Amino acid sequence: MTSKALDEVKIGGLGSSRKRVEDDRFIRGKGHYLDDVTLPGMLHMEILRSPLPHARIKSIDTSKAWEIPGVHLVLTGEMMATRNLAWMPTLSYDTQAVLATDKVRFQGQEVACVIADDPYIAKDACEAIDVDYEPLPVIVNPEQSQADGAPVIRDDKDGQASNVIYDWEVGDKAATDRAFARADLISKLELHYPRSHPSPIECCGSVADFNRATSKLTVHLTTQAPHIIRAAVAMVAEIPEHLIRIISPDLGGGFGNKVPIYPGYVCSILASILLERPVKWIEDKTGNLISTGFARDVYLKGEMALRKDGKILGVRMHTDADHGAFFSDAQPSKFKIGLMHSAFAAYDIPAAHLTARGVYTNKAPGGVAYRCSFRVTEAMFFQERMVQEAANDLGIDQAAFRRMNFVADDDFPHRTPFGFLTDSGQYAKCLDVGLKAIDYDKFREEQAEARKRGKLLGLGISTMTEPLGAGNSREYDILGIKMFDSADLKVHMTGKAILRTGAKSQGQGHETTWAQIVAHELGIPAADVVVEEGDTDTAPFGMGTYASRSTPVAGAAVAMVSRKIRAKARKLAAHLLEVSEEDIEWELGRFYVRSAPGRGVTIQECAMAAYSNMPDGMEPGLENTAYYDPPNLTWPFAVYIVTVEVDPVTGVWDVLKTVAVDDCGVRINPMIVEGQIMGGLTEAYAMASMQFITFDADGNCVGSNYMDYLLPSAWETPGFELHSEVVTPCPHHPIGAKGIGECAAVGGPAAFVNAVMDALGGTGVRNIDMPLLPDRVWEALTHGRDVSGAPPIRQE
Ligand code: CDP
Repeated sequence: MTSKALDEVKIGGLGSSRKRVEDDRFIRGKGHYLDDVTLPGMLHMEILRSPLPHARIKSIDTSKAWEIPGVHLVLTGEMMATRNLAWMPTLSYDTQAVLATDKVRFQGQEVACVIADDPYIAKDACEAIDVDYEPLPVIVNPEQSQADGAPVIRDDKDGQASNVIYDWEVGDKAATDRAFARADLISKLELHYPRSHPSPIECCGSVADFNRATSKLTVHLTTQAPHIIRAAVAMVAEIPEHLIRIISPDLGGGFGNKVPIYPGYVCSILASILLERPVKWIEDKTGNLISTGFARDVYLKGEMALRKDGKILGVRMHTDADHGAFFSDAQPSKFKIGLMHSAFAAYDIPAAHLTARGVYTNKAPGGVAYRCSFRVTEAMFFQERMVQEAANDLGIDQAAFRRMNFVADDDFPHRTPFGFLTDSGQYAKCLDVGLKAIDYDKFREEQAEARKRGKLLGLGISTMTEPLGAGNSREYDILGIKMFDSADLKVHMTGKAILRTGAKSQGQGHETTWAQIVAHELGIPAADVVVEEGDTDTAPFGMGTYASRSTPVAGAAVAMVSRKIRAKARKLAAHLLEVSEEDIEWELGRFYVRSAPGRGVTIQECAMAAYSNMPDGMEPGLENTAYYDPPNLTWPFAVYIVTVEVDPVTGVWDVLKTVAVDDCGVRINPMIVEGQIMGGLTEAYAMASMQFITFDADGNCVGSNYMDYLLPSAWETPGFELHSEVVTPCPHHPIGAKGIGECAAVGGPAAFVNAVMDALGGTGVRNIDMPLLPDRVWEALTHGRDVSGAPPIRQE
């Protein structure tokens, strides 16, 4: 390296905590969200939703709605059926009603749509629609769903005689049985991970604009995966794919909620085609909370075979997943229960077996990957609750129990008990950093001392490695479309550049961090690279952003396309310096002659030459595209430790301290990584302490507004202490990065719950299901018993 090499941090390369460029417009109120899209002649759509969770539709009378001035169209399921659009395929190979025809199957289901001059007329007209329902018995959990004589919810499906969607298994049953046969102790745990909602502040919506003159359909859409939507619209609506343009504008959060295809999208598209005018639909908050993209709602049962010295010999898991009325999980198609079998990947366990059953209930379709890689959140929560209970059953310290069962640093690549291949990590080192930060031994002393005075202190640990970055394409696809991603880089003649990827930021800061990767690879200052995502007419085909896959896959594509550009720039440099390519060396931002380091050209000079002075026979221009199919998932590791104090009189618990040690490999932008961790821990705290969507016995959704579905504000969210000293680069990622977006939301909940359970140690209480509301903690303490299942709605 010569003294002319650029300072990477100064140009905003890797490791620079560059301020988020997108925030300039967000904090000035200049973001361009879906509701900001206004087109000439635009009409507005509203949806009539079912008040009943399960009912046969006897008739729908829309005549009064049609009579209201300003109404242009009233759509019903019957009308959709004439165009073969009453049902649509889901991302899990099921079907979902677009507008109900035969029955409604959950409260809030879409029954009809009105398109009118403004949203108020459309809403009034919805109320003028008269639907005659015949109520049917309601099913709100897997137990009722599988009971003898339970009504079949999906009687629309040929051959569907029960409410079971699938039975699926993975692992080695025989080896697991053998492990259990030789166990000294078997530790058991049952729990429920309650239904939750990603609840982005911006709801879902679309502005469909069909132009009859050009036959082009443009849809502005709140989607995390624009290209998948384009393909799905082409298949379902039978519009040629090249005549469809999906534009995903700034998104006000996504968290998995904006991956699926919703009936509102389909209806607005059809309405625009029929009326030949733009049609806007945007949900209200209640519509969003009761009908779109629920997460979790899984019942878990597990057993751990243990040797008395603390070695875990084997694990058995069973899950009953409540999918609601349609199986619409966004998940890699082969694995029915997503990546639930990534559980226990951090531990060296010889044998494991998982069985999973999915069932229909009269609830909105659930199972989206809410800040989660397809059920990884449930897997890690269960794992870490189970590990704590097993350590307690053995009478072994919970930190020591984890350490003795961790995969060792020199044991990579490591085959997990369910068959994944993990490739790197320093698990014990991360745990040591966390224990030191929380002052573990001192806290244990204080805890024992406090207990003598009737004061309940507790400490919870959660340690996990999770699979981020689906795919590789050998194993991961959605609707058969292989999971890879892409980047397209155009370097202009003045050395400025535009980068487009197949990912789609919902606030994660891609416009900032992708430019940092280009700066690292090419020495073009990050400020000189503009990043665009979300427009299928300009971005290369990609699978979108969810499951923290952007950095592992699209981020890798950014590095690879930059390297392609550098390879061409090297040829240009050789031409400009009049030496052969082999005599050229690279340092950040500059090529130079090996034997005469003072003679060199900058990347910007090469860019100018690509348009003005290229060698004979070279194709002009400096641009390229890379498609990246990762060889494996990335496996970040995290330790979350929480201490709490529980008030024995009220059941209220307060967080005393939270420590997070995240090893996500090389950090592109440390400040953004910290923001991701803080956001994830906030959501983890919310899940553990206050947040759930539940249903009463009649199938009414309780949690349809922000008075009932609680989002923690800065007031109640505790402070977090973050540690970044352990860095284990990903061996196969071009810049050594691993995903981070969801880690804290995935691993965090168990740390909070484990802390409260630890405070209750000695009371005989083994489990309180989330959320740990004060009355549930009080009930457990007062009666010395577990509090299980979705919180009951007390009927006075
Ligand atoms: O897919 P998603 O963007 O939600 O998750 P991610 O790939 O984990 O990235 C979240 C944000 O953190 C992005 O802005 C990344 O570029 C950034 N990040 C980083 O700076 N360093 C890492 N090792 C991982 C992510």
